[in-house]
Amino acid sequence: MTKVAIAEDIFWVGAVDWNLRDFHGYTTNRGTTYNAYLILDQKTVLVDTVKYNFATELVKNIEDVTDFEKIGYIIVNHVEMDHSSALPMIAEKAKNATVIASEKGKDSIVCHYGDHFRIQTVKTGDMLKLGDRTLTFVEAPMLHWPDSMMTYVTPDKILMPNDAFGQHLASSQRFDDEVDEHILMDEAAKYFANILMPLAPLITRKIQEVTQLGVAPTMIAPSHGIIWRSNPSRIVNAYLQWSEGKAKRKISIVYDTMWGSTDKMAHAMADGAASQGVEVKLMKLRATDLSEIITQILDSKAVIVGSPTLNNQMFPTLGHFLTYITGLRPKGKVWSFFGSYGWGGGAVRGMTEMARKAGFEVREPGIEVKFVPNAEDLQKCVEFGKKIATEI
Ligand code: FEO
Repeated sequence: MTKVAIAEDIFWVGAVDWNLRDFHGYTTNRGTTYNAYLILDQKTVLVDTVKYNFATELVKNIEDVTDFEKIGYIIVNHVEMDHSSALPMIAEKAKNATVIASEKGKDSIVCHYGDHFRIQTVKTGDMLKLGDRTLTFVEAPMLHWPDSMMTYVTPDKILMPNDAFGQHLASSQRFDDEVDEHILMDEAAKYFANILMPLAPLITRKIQEVTQLGVAPTMIAPSHGIIWRSNPSRIVNAYLQWSEGKAKRKISIVYDTMWGSTDKMAHAMADGAASQGVEVKLMKLRATDLSEIITQILDSKAVIVGSPTLNNQMFPTLGHFLTYITGLRPKGKVWSFFGSYGWGGGAVRGMTEMARKAGFEVREPGIEVKFVPNAEDLQKCVEFGKKIATEI
């Protein structure tokens, strides 16, 4: 994809990865982009690079705008390889450039690519005068790595926050007013849920800190996906809500099944919950993409999880799911567990212990059924679904 001017003398020079379907385990059904930006002024600056297999595309886009020897600085907002693995090639070509990174960013660059770069470190509030423009840097540790930082361009008021506010969304369009807003917000939510959810408290604090520094962007240009230009406060407000754990009257039922017993229980619970006017999402683990399940949980007030018992333990797909979701640390949700067993049981106990250990708010007891649920068992499941629905 060719370069695009996002403001006067500021160009998107990144790459669109149309065919990416797996981003270290996150399912990217709509591909992604690696956004890099070139700012022309008395000193020319490249903000971020791209993934290594798109480096030649980045080189071409830069050469369409300027000569490499004119680049005075390469800003590395974040060293994760989707944004920095083209750095060695770019730095080799941009011989006059100094790399700018946070202190931890410098350490990470050296760990990834060696110590042959000329690196200047910056901290929050540091400024770099380019000519007519000034860059202000804001450290953003853990958003998404310890090295992360944001770059704010004035007087254009463009925030380049790297991973924050991004989406894995490949598109020939670059701006929020050019794409379907439902797809855009869905991908932004999926990105937050699967990448940033465990860092939610930091996000709220960082947004407050950035506001206090006088950063009031009219455009937010993240490192993945679409640029927010029509109403950047929309994504900032969405981040605040997601970070605070705000959710709607919605129950996600996540389960797996061996011979259909847990499936019958899940459907009965869904019927009970839906009868109370609550939105219900019923998601069988082997039929639903895990990244999508996490997105549905983001705005659910309750999560009901079901598993058959296999070898006195939860079914393996539940182990996979619970390992992932406990690491993501979703806030403010009600959790409960159900399942079936043949002789000794163990799935509900194991899942409950795992959730309790993670600090989740668990409603006990859950429901366990021996072998196949009868009409009475299923009615109990309906009542269980109703009870959780009336609580939220
Ligand atoms: Fe898009 Fe944390 O890298």
